[in-house]
Amino acid sequence: MKEKILRLKKEKNAIILAHYYTRPEVQEIADFVGDSLALSQKAAATDADIILFAGVHFMAETAKILNPTKKVLIPDFKASCSLADGCRAQAFGKFLEDYPGYTVLSYINCSAEVKAMSDIIVTSGNALRIVQSLPQNEKIVFAPDRNLGTYINRALNRNMVLWDGSCCVHDRILPDDILELRVSHPAAQVIAHPECPTDILELADFTGSTAAMLKHVAASTCREFIVATEPGILFELQRQNPDKSFYPVQAGGIDNVCEHMKLNTLDNICRALETEQPELLLDPELMDKARKSIERMLSY
Ligand code: 13P
Ligand code: SF4
Repeated sequence: MKEKILRLKKEKNAIILAHYYTRPEVQEIADFVGDSLALSQKAAATDADIILFAGVHFMAETAKILNPTKKVLIPDFKASCSLADGCRAQAFGKFLEDYPGYTVLSYINCSAEVKAMSDIIVTSGNALRIVQSLPQNEKIVFAPDRNLGTYINRALNRNMVLWDGSCCVHDRILPDDILELRVSHPAAQVIAHPECPTDILELADFTGSTAAMLKHVAASTCREFIVATEPGILFELQRQNPDKSFYPVQAGGIDNVCEHMKLNTLDNICRALETEQPELLLDPELMDKARKSIERMLSY
């Protein structure tokens, strides 16, 4: 299967972009594996004819918006995201009516429609830097992740109005899930993604995006890490740091995987490359509106 995918990729001048949360075998055949920020930069810059996005729907949409002449394939259209699903454009528009004159800042984990209603997009990798660059008294609405929004508010002493959404994977982690691992691994550092709730981030030694976690671990003298994010990242953590140990945080004793990310398999990636379906298509006018807020992020 891997050989067939590599052959098809070459024949069709396709690039496979994969998020760190996908299955190990998917990360292995990808041309580039990254966090949401790096993946959007890669999608914008590629000269491949086909972008196959092994991630979730909003990521493929971002790729299409940034590089609209390319054919963007998504192996399974059901690969969605609880953050994007929990912030429908119509409800968001109604919500914004209460905040005239506010700057609308949206996390990249949202639909193209919500991006089109936003002034600036951020990812977990650049949110602090971008908010910091806005005047302290600027009135801001932040959507759709209340956990990331709370993290930014606390870190930068801001008072952004938050849309009440969350990532189902990070939001279900409880303090006990970490405290139990700490008992069995007392020397381990806790690293956490800012999509986690505040009580989890308060237990963390380091908070950052998936790429920031990888950077932190590579530079750290610590040899053991309790990892509070989707366990798919352990593949790259272990690959880069074969001499260090990683303990994924479970949620109530169950592996805390993102079912959406795991919908990407070698089987459907191969089929998508073979048939060039399913292709992600978006309304050109919608793309033009959404692109403005993403490009504003990329310009930072
Ligand atoms: P990053 O890739 O920005 O770390 O975000 C994690 C995530 O949940 C992607 O859906
Ligand atoms: Fe969405 Fe959470 Fe899955 Fe990321 S991990 S795609 S934020 S549901």
